[in-house]
Amino acid sequence: MTDRPALLIRNARILLPDGDFLQGDVLIEGDQIRQVAPEISPDPIGPIAREIDATGLTLLPGAIDPQVHFREPGLEHKEDLRTASHACAKGGVTSFLEMPNTKPLTTTQATLQDKLDRAASKCVVNYGFFIGATADRLPDLITANPVCGIKIFMGSMHGPLLVDEEPILDQIFAMGQQPGQTGYGRLIAVHAENQDRIRQRREQFAGITDPAIHSQIQDNQAALEATQLALKLARKHRRRLHILHMSTGDEANLMRQGKPEWVTCEVTPQHLLLDVSAYETIGTFAQMNPPLRSPEDCAILWQALLDGVIDFIATDHAPHTLEEKAQPYPNSPSGMPGVQTSLPLMLTQAAAGRCTVAQVARWMSTNVAKGFGIPNKGAIAPGWDADLVLVDLDNYRPVLREEMLSKCGWSPFEGWNLTGWPVYTIVGGQVAYENGEVNESVRGRALRFEPTV
Ligand code: DOR
Repeated sequence: MTDRPALLIRNARILLPDGDFLQGDVLIEGDQIRQVAPEISPDPIGPIAREIDATGLTLLPGAIDPQVHFREPGLEHKEDLRTASHACAKGGVTSFLEMPNTKPLTTTQATLQDKLDRAASKCVVNYGFFIGATADRLPDLITANPVCGIKIFMGSMHGPLLVDEEPILDQIFAMGQQPGQTGYGRLIAVHAENQDRIRQRREQFAGITDPAIHSQIQDNQAALEATQLALKLARKHRRRLHILHMSTGDEANLMRQGKPEWVTCEVTPQHLLLDVSAYETIGTFAQMNPPLRSPEDCAILWQALLDGVIDFIATDHAPHTLEEKAQPYPNSPSGMPGVQTSLPLMLTQAAAGRCTVAQVARWMSTNVAKGFGIPNKGAIAPGWDADLVLVDLDNYRPVLREEMLSKCGWSPFEGWNLTGWPVYTIVGGQVAYENGEVNESVRGRALRFEPTV
């Protein structure tokens, strides 16, 4: 609790932790939720800094995006922590977990601290960072702090961040396994694609410039083989494992056959909502790693998400400039932006009856907080952090390039008519976004992470 005068949200449709909705008020004091009730009388509360009339709006826990690439330091011509955090606020994302493939790579305490300092000075939402695995710096993986997890690129990477040899992977999975050991319970997150298979297929299909070949080169089998290996190592060491951006029906079926309780996996909106036909409409802008798949893969992934086989949603926000993406394949880089559109994309699916609003909140907030051991986030209840988003579920608006706040300035979903756009985004009790405007003076905080075993 702080001296900051209270914020009162009036007459919202509030998503409660049990999945039901309450029409009512939420009182926020400092950075926490103080009270949730059908009607809160201001009398005993003391000074109210502000009331928000939320009539017609739905209040959800702010989204936590567990996989983003925000490019700072070193690649700021694509994105930086300021622009990316503004896109987050506008998209209802109140916390993000960022990947280590920046320049320099985030592989040491010093490079991690540099990112934390940068984020503290410019991010309007909360932040956490992965430490990147390299074969030559294994001890840093468990001593660096605070980190949300160890990121391993098993494929789709070049340079030191590629760790594709089983003996090294085995060593990493064996680290920090005993209670009391440094780094105990630290999560390992893998980008699971088999680099050997990708290498061979790149040679086999060399010279083809149709971007659709990308999904053939980095095919389902390449993803499945790496996921099988990661799962094998997680079982052997009983090691907390998270499979990033699972893209194939084959992997989802593998998880369905028996996923240990210490393993989680995620899917991106792109892999749920776009398939290989996107190459015909947006060409290289549809190129990402792992690649888009068939409509059958999308359907199996959807079902796995609905059935709880897939635990949560991440965007893999990976911005590249329009000029970079417009290069012919294979010179075009892989990746698409996503933080500004992920929540409305999923809420539009809920409006269409494919899932419920409560499921979307679970996949994009509650389950992420649980999976990464982020305390006090992901629910609207007294004592929880006031990271919240008020969305309008009754108003459809198209995704417009000119409204994108990511520095890259485009979206693969341009022209899609979406509902569930954020009207207010609240970060630690502060209004970070409101009716089209980001409040640049708001600052998020460094996330804390508890052991996730
Ligand atoms: O498409 C992708 N782009 N996938 C990744 O995993 C990395 C990302 C990037 O950093 O551009």
